[in-house]
Amino acid sequence: MTVRAIELYNKKRTDIEGALKSIRSEDFLIAAMAGSEPIPLLEQLHRLKAMGIINCQLTNCLPMREYEFIKNPEYVDTIFTAGWFYSNIMRKANQQGNVSFAPQHLHSSFTKRLFARDGRRLVLLCTCSLMDKHGYLSLSLGTTYERQAIEAGAYVIAVVNNRMPRTFGDTIVHISEIDLLVEADYEVPTLPSAQINEKDRRIGGYIAELVEDGATIQLGIGGIPNAVAEALKGKRHLGIHTEMFTEGMVDLIEAGAVDNSHKTLYKGKTVATFALGGERLYDFIDDNPSIIFKYGKWTNNPHIIGRNHKMISINTTLEVDLTGQCASESIGPIQFSGTGGQSDTAVGAQLSEGGKSFIALYATTEIKDKDGKKTTISKIVPMLKTGAVVSLSRNDVDFVVTEYGAVSLRGRTIKERIERLISIAHPDFRDELRFDAKKLAP
Ligand code: COA
Repeated sequence: MTVRAIELYNKKRTDIEGALKSIRSEDFLIAAMAGSEPIPLLEQLHRLKAMGIINCQLTNCLPMREYEFIKNPEYVDTIFTAGWFYSNIMRKANQQGNVSFAPQHLHSSFTKRLFARDGRRLVLLCTCSLMDKHGYLSLSLGTTYERQAIEAGAYVIAVVNNRMPRTFGDTIVHISEIDLLVEADYEVPTLPSAQINEKDRRIGGYIAELVEDGATIQLGIGGIPNAVAEALKGKRHLGIHTEMFTEGMVDLIEAGAVDNSHKTLYKGKTVATFALGGERLYDFIDDNPSIIFKYGKWTNNPHIIGRNHKMISINTTLEVDLTGQCASESIGPIQFSGTGGQSDTAVGAQLSEGGKSFIALYATTEIKDKDGKKTTISKIVPMLKTGAVVSLSRNDVDFVVTEYGAVSLRGRTIKERIERLISIAHPDFRDELRFDAKKLAP
């Protein structure tokens, strides 16, 4: 290890107390995303209140723990949180008013202008893997916006956890770019793999039929994308260019279905912006030079995605109307998740030569009323629920898939879309949909 790197490392070392003391009122705090959250620091962040700190804002994405400053409205004057991809934790806090949703596409989420934040000081709260002998650490599970924050001049507080995988690409950070570091040893947060059911398998099968060997794939979040990964195991020479790197993708690489050999951008490499999953996934990405983590603004830029030939994007939605509008992130006006990269990847895939974009959903879901009574409703609807957020516009939708089949909507009229979408709705709802559809296209 170089003497200078060791000197810098020791000079920047502090503890949680020291890190908290470096935060000032009015700071704009950027918490690293999902599994890269600096848990020991975020668990103590509410203590800023007792230290007299007020009016900080914090932005996060898919938080993994129920931190005191998020769940307890008592801290709202110290830290107000803006999230742009909700997990259950944020859904609950949203009802209390101490967090608010920030609508944005992943690729455009942290531009220079957005980082300006009314002149507030930017502070990045991130995690890193251990420093190597050259003085480099890695941002580990991804760099959706973390490295961009460093380049925008953020004050960097890094929790160095020896269990974080070391990854390559835009995740690499030199010790000189870090302002304070806190050493810690804790379990890397995991996201349990959703179990695959029979409906998922059918959806996976329909999509797999439309994916050619040599295609490059992106898979979104949820149970259906995992089933698609399983269904793609028989393919050959697939490539990966994805926002989220998942355990299903590890299976595809290990099964020999993905070798990245036919990619037209970053041939031979898997490209992602973040990884989230279990220990097996984290072992796989650790010190693995075949996986390149790139900035979210690059990986998810539709024009970059479109440079991959035969690009396939596969995402899920909560509700789709008969014209093809996809409400993927809210149930009526209630924010459920976020747009994330849904629109980025769907648009990008359609810019690609031979590309296709898929939106998958079950034909129905069960909802409970306030007395706990269950009702089955169709997720294909004549009109979206009042207040529903359109994550993917009908101008950008391509294939829609349920357990009853896959239909292509691109270039099709409203009349044709209605017929096609009804053909993949649950049979029990088709007559009702046909009746209601008359209001849309007599
Ligand atoms: N009306 C009312 N409730 C509905 C509904 C509808 N049309 N559709 C789903 N729900 C309920 C389900 O019943 C379920 O409730 P439960 O948690 O009480 O069981 C819940 O909403 C989740 O539905 P599900 O279909 O299981 O969603 P999922 O877990 O597969 O997640 C999202 C899907 C929300 C993650 C996904 O749609 C999303 O966020 N998409 C946008 C982001 C994206 O695609 N990014 C791309 C790259 S990562």
